[in-house]
Amino acid sequence: MIQSIQEAATYLQNATDNYAPEFGIILGTGLGALVNEVQVAYSLSYADIPHFPVSTVESHSGKLIFGLLAGRRVVVMQGRFHYYEGYTMNQVVFPVRVMKLLGIRKLFVSNAAGGLDPAFNMSDLMVITDHINLLPGNPLIGKNLDELGPRFPDMSDVYDEEMIRQAMVIAEDAGFDLREGVYVSAPGPMLETKAEYKFMRIIGADAVGMSTVPEIIAARHMGLPVFAVSVITDMCTPGQLKQVVLADILAAAAKAEPHMTMLIRELIRNS
Ligand code: HPA
Repeated sequence: MIQSIQEAATYLQNATDNYAPEFGIILGTGLGALVNEVQVAYSLSYADIPHFPVSTVESHSGKLIFGLLAGRRVVVMQGRFHYYEGYTMNQVVFPVRVMKLLGIRKLFVSNAAGGLDPAFNMSDLMVITDHINLLPGNPLIGKNLDELGPRFPDMSDVYDEEMIRQAMVIAEDAGFDLREGVYVSAPGPMLETKAEYKFMRIIGADAVGMSTVPEIIAARHMGLPVFAVSVITDMCTPGQLKQVVLADILAAAAKAEPHMTMLIRELIRNS
């Protein structure tokens, strides 16, 4: 495993003339427009990177993009791997581990999520302050990769408080509401039942999605500070729950995307 991660990192260093990104960014469903603000230096297909999981889905032709955002060197994952696609947890987090070996100092993650807090509205942004893992596994199970991090990494303080505080200031200065809350990861790919949403609310979640938690766990295992934000693409509360289709999720994500991009760009500028 370690050898595969190293080989992928070495390939990328050679292919990008040792670009040495400072920040890693993972973009969620419908939230890819941030890439338009990146001054792209290198763009590499996942399929060309040794040991990278290969997407079986045609529409998920992923790219790893190296370039400048707010004048800083970033590496952006355009397209991520979800557990529901059939990847192992180690495959889902493989790119995060490679980005760490490339030298990133912080990880930024976005996702599309369903709203469980009845005070939320569609297209709200929610900064993730904590998470609950309801996936049937996690990327640290098995022999510990001692080169990456400890056997029992602490999870009492996962999301970087200073970046959360800065995000609140950025949103206030820009004049938009930024919510805060707990993200729960569900296996998917089906959306959840009414009873499941009720359960998730009772256990303390404010938003639900099918990604992010594995990548965050892998990042924290390696000691990387993380910032994560959910775009509320549909409401899952009693009275507001409707049948959702992907097109609605994409439309709600597109509406919130400019604020999300601004948050990540300004946090990187301040870092
Ligand atoms: N569950 C419910 N609604 C959602 C999700 C989810 O996982 N992702 C985006 N909207």
